Amino acid sequence: MNREKIIVIDFGGQYNQLVARRVRECNVYCEIYSYKTELDKIRQMKPKGIILTGGPDSCYREGAASCERALFELGIPVLGLCYGAQLMMHVLGGHVCKAPVREYGRIEVTVNSSSPLFANVEKKTICWMSHNDYIERAAPGFEVIAHTPDCPVAAVQWKEKKLYGIQFHPEVLHTVEGTRMLSNFVYEVCGCAGDWRMDAFVDNTIKTIRERVGGGRVLCALSGGVDSSVAAVMLSKAVGDQLTCVFVDHGLLRKNEGDEVEEVFGPNGPYDLNFVRVNAQERFYGKLKGIEEPEQKRKIIGEEFIRVFEEEAKKIGAVDFLVQGTIYPDVVESGLGGESAVIKSHHNVGGLPDYVDFKEIIEPLRDLFKDEVRKAGLELGIPQKLVYRQPFPGPGLGIRIVGEVTAEKVRMVQEADAIYREEIAKAGLDKSIGQYFAALTNMRSVGVMGDERTYDYAVALRAVSTVDFMTAEVSQIPWDVLGKVANRIVNEVRNVSRVLYDVTGKPPATIEFE
Ligand code: XMP
Repeated sequence: MNREKIIVIDFGGQYNQLVARRVRECNVYCEIYSYKTELDKIRQMKPKGIILTGGPDSCYREGAASCERALFELGIPVLGLCYGAQLMMHVLGGHVCKAPVREYGRIEVTVNSSSPLFANVEKKTICWMSHNDYIERAAPGFEVIAHTPDCPVAAVQWKEKKLYGIQFHPEVLHTVEGTRMLSNFVYEVCGCAGDWRMDAFVDNTIKTIRERVGGGRVLCALSGGVDSSVAAVMLSKAVGDQLTCVFVDHGLLRKNEGDEVEEVFGPNGPYDLNFVRVNAQERFYGKLKGIEEPEQKRKIIGEEFIRVFEEEAKKIGAVDFLVQGTIYPDVVESGLGGESAVIKSHHNVGGLPDYVDFKEIIEPLRDLFKDEVRKAGLELGIPQKLVYRQPFPGPGLGIRIVGEVTAEKVRMVQEADAIYREEIAKAGLDKSIGQYFAALTNMRSVGVMGDERTYDYAVALRAVSTVDFMTAEVSQIPWDVLGKVANRIVNEVRNVSRVLYDVTGKPPATIEFE
């Protein structure tokens, strides 16, 4: 599709997806590419502007991530951020070296608001700095347009050539006027029109899918999660009952979740699709019997999922298209887009194509970030409750039960989790905490109930806030809410006698327990 586009060139910094998301929030489509991308390819994409990201390297180090001088001579506006700004200066003849004072955190920056980049930005504005190196001298032709007491060159411009560099991170929310700066770049400098809108995206995608599918048959694995639900509804709007959705209930879902999915997508729900629910609980529990090692559990659940799906697909017979709920961060993290390292390989529907008889894959959400998938979901009229559903891992409660999974343990964690969610919602905290859930530890401990000694399990409560799921901070849930949850869990959930609150961030812990 020929849409107006900004491209982000990734030098491996931790906020790179955030840069693209912020640009898209300004209604301008944006994609991420590795710094190794050929200049010719960049030229062919005809971007309206280019943003160079931050990165962990020192641009003057031999073999550091770099770019060609010609990138700045394409006539396309360029904005360098942090490492990107340093690199721009280094390549164009300025001087970058180790900073005498390392800046980290919120810093007041004085900007020249007559620069188009800082139009309508306060003269003194708080920005997020994080750098060891600094620009000691700007490259010839450039003018300094911002500084701090310790950073004489906090931003530069060569206005006629539309080249800009800033030492701080406008993409991070701590930079109070960061979004305005990015918006200034895409509108004032690059002259974008702002044609990236979810309603238009949804309409266009439905139309394109309808043309592509024609009279063909389509198969979709539905998990009840946001991505597969939005993909399924989009397909259903495009091709109606040519679509069959297979929902595998692996017995590791949250309490009542299987029935909730069936209510929305099943025969009595609002959509005109063929819905197949497979109750495979016993099969999964059987395969997981005696298995304690987390990676092995993940593998078993993933493989069994594929097997069940394959069996159902065989019953349906040959289909023309298989739907996958791939979203843009999957594309970037699988190494097809940017440079960021893969932290953990997640169970999604990645393995399916080898096993199912189909001709082509449809990935309707491949270009979208998670928040955009949600917006698309709302455009499609999917219930809020489903659209704002918390992230839930493919292996489900299997990785929230430490050690061996049994039906009895699934019951405990489901009930504890349902109580936790109910109380969080009652306290009005459900919108403000990123992700929260109960897990079952593998620890049994001695307790007392009435006059009897007990020897029962401990449930762990987790609540984190996260921007990108790569890092997470513990959320501070008020003690009275925690107290109430703990009280209810030990009273209402059989065989649980202790409740713990996890106060570990990520890193070093991951969000899930396994
Ligand atoms: P971790 O535990 O890696 O989790 O810190 C980061 C985010 O990813 C979710 N998660 C998964 N999602 N399949 C998924 O689709 C998985 O295998 C998986 N493992 C973790 C987790 O819930 C959190 O939001």
